[in-house]
Amino acid sequence: MPYITWKEPYNIGIQLIDDQHKKLVNIINELYEAQKIGTSQTIINDVIKQLENYTKYHFDSEEEIQTANKYPQFDNHKTEHEEFITKLIEFKKDAKKNNLLLSLKTIDYLKDWTINHILGSDKNFGEYLRNLEGI
Ligand SMILES: [Fe+2]
Repeated sequence: MPYITWKEPYNIGIQLIDDQHKKLVNIINELYEAQKIGTSQTIINDVIKQLENYTKYHFDSEEEIQTANKYPQFDNHKTEHEEFITKLIEFKKDAKKNNLLLSLKTIDYLKDWTINHILGSDKNFGEYLRNLEGI
């Protein structure tokens, strides 16, 4: 059983974004598995780096679509993204500095933030875009 199982309500109805969200969930699952089996610090660091890179790429995609469609809640949405990136960078630094594996609490935070953001802000954005496009 994966740490996070994808569920139908997580879909926001925009194919590109849903696919990216699934990929993000997969990376968080990978991080959880790596932590659980007590894999090497190097592998953990690599997975965190992968998560950071893919999250940035994904947030850029969302923000580009929002800007192109004059999404009224763009500023708030972007702020949420920036706060998450700041947290991720903190976790990455802590993990490296202390040479410690990420705690389960940290991974739970990543999971909860991602799912809450998808179910809240991203769903609102999906609804706006679908109304706009009449789909
Ligand atoms: Fe978002």
